[in-house]
Amino acid sequence: MKGKRKKSIDGSGSRRRKEEQLNLSLNGDVENGIVSPGFENYRFIHQALPEIDFDNIDTGISIFGKKLSAPLMISPITGGTLGGGKLNMRLVEIAQEKNIAMGVGSQRIAIEDRSFEESFKVRKIAPDILLFANLGAVQLNYGFGLEQCKRAVDMIEADALMLHLNPMQEVFQDGGDSDFSDLAGKITSICEKAEFPVLVREVGFGISADAAKMLAGAGVAGIDVGGAGGTSWIKIESSRSKDPVLKNISKSFMDWGIPTAESLEMVSGAGSSIKIIASGGIRTGLDAAKAIALGADIAGAALPILKASIDSGGEAESLIDGIILGLKVAMFGIGVSNITNLKNNKYLVKKEGNHL
Ligand SMILES: Cc1cc2nc3c(=O)[nH]c(=O)nc-3n(C[C@H](O)[C@H](O)[C@H](O)COP(=O)(O)O)c2cc1C
Repeated sequence: MKGKRKKSIDGSGSRRRKEEQLNLSLNGDVENGIVSPGFENYRFIHQALPEIDFDNIDTGISIFGKKLSAPLMISPITGGTLGGGKLNMRLVEIAQEKNIAMGVGSQRIAIEDRSFEESFKVRKIAPDILLFANLGAVQLNYGFGLEQCKRAVDMIEADALMLHLNPMQEVFQDGGDSDFSDLAGKITSICEKAEFPVLVREVGFGISADAAKMLAGAGVAGIDVGGAGGTSWIKIESSRSKDPVLKNISKSFMDWGIPTAESLEMVSGAGSSIKIIASGGIRTGLDAAKAIALGADIAGAALPILKASIDSGGEAESLIDGIILGLKVAMFGIGVSNITNLKNNKYLVKKEGNHL
């Protein structure tokens, strides 16, 4: 077991780490499997008289100054430097075609070494989409500040910045950056000075009610709950770890985290002007519909889109078409013809006997 944790990693280590994470996500078993995102605990009350025409259902939304065809996002996926940024370009091509939002994976590598900037330049392929820049919030304790945040946004002509919170990932990563002290103050300072909206997201362990209150107080424009039940970073990092003690204790943490649906309930109460993104184990249009009815503005997914994007024959596009169709069918079933009326909809109820 390590003593004092090693800090920053050089560019080559960082690239190797991303390659390993990506390969494991594509070929290994990285989904939680123990905790579910929790959407099965809710159901919509079916309306036999929906009183709307299915063909008139509008899934479009306006958010952060952009119009989207559906309230969906390709969640941030790191690995952008691989193959000269091929993965980023493929993902953004899908987002542009479907007119949905996308967040790029962590741009830290390109902030530390400008030669990697090119692999993130996705705007030329996606001039219209809602695009989020991405950095780890913990880097604010390792020399990053407003200047690096601004560079990340400018690098990709993003509409907003997402700072990710990943304490469990860092602590289970050999040499991870685990100094998470006083981050709320630093996030507050970035929110105060930045000329772009700043959102904060978890990567798979959820945002609690208290964390949401702190983030609302910090002045964030949005929170992505990144709840438990989808991709598990404890699984990914513990299978990469060379530390036998860390590997061993990781087994007792496999059920750690706030399920996505539960986290959504917690965050919905944080502040009415804050935009909410649901992610973590969202796999179907019905999951997305339930997430929106629980208060989310957008629902995001990473792993299934990553896997489907490897196929160049349109598998990812079909996957997204299916999610949009599922969302529309759910809206039809409760007689709702637009996303504004789906948000916080009264027909979503907790199933009897399930107490979250
Ligand atoms: C290979 C891979 C790389 C990821 N890289 C990042 C990242 O750089 N920044 C970030 O905020 N989230 C990152 N994530 C987390 C996802 O955006 C998402 O929050 C998480 O995977 C849960 O969603 P899912 O269950 O749909 O996969 C990554 C996920 C995967 C699978």
